Amino acid sequence: MERTLVIIKPDAVEKGAVGKILDRFITEGFRIRALKMFRFTVEQAREFYAVHKGRPFYNELVEFMTSGPVVAILLEGENAVKRVREIIGPTDSEEARRVAPMSIRALFGTDKGKNAVHASDSLESAAYEIPFVFSNLELC
Ligand code: TYD
Repeated sequence: MERTLVIIKPDAVEKGAVGKILDRFITEGFRIRALKMFRFTVEQAREFYAVHKGRPFYNELVEFMTSGPVVAILLEGENAVKRVREIIGPTDSEEARRVAPMSIRALFGTDKGKNAVHASDSLESAAYEIPFVFSNLELC
């Protein structure tokens, strides 16, 4: 069993897509081990995305991720990291609509910035991101 972190981003929360996205992961067979809604401060978003520091889209990404509340979900399942990445689709929602039309980013995202969800891209990322967002007491 693996654990991975999903964050429903401000665009999808604003659209009212939280329920549909949660339902998709449950239908796909994952167990929800933790769940919460919060709003990143600029400092927290910069640290969460520290791996992208220096990339041209970094400031825009931080601005977007702090623009409204997000919903974080800790999912557990077999090959969770890889399977969740497949279910969310490519980074760019426009590309997702072409190559993976039933993916979450195709269904609920707009473009490569506003792309509805984040998901850990490796076990190493998950190991950084899960304790960043959830404390021990919040894990079920
Ligand atoms: P990245 O880690 O490349 O994608 P993913 O979320 O699929 O793992 O990028 C992190 C986030 O940065 C991405 O979800 C949206 C944002 N981003 C942009 O705004 N513009 C870009 O050109 C890229 C590559 C990413």
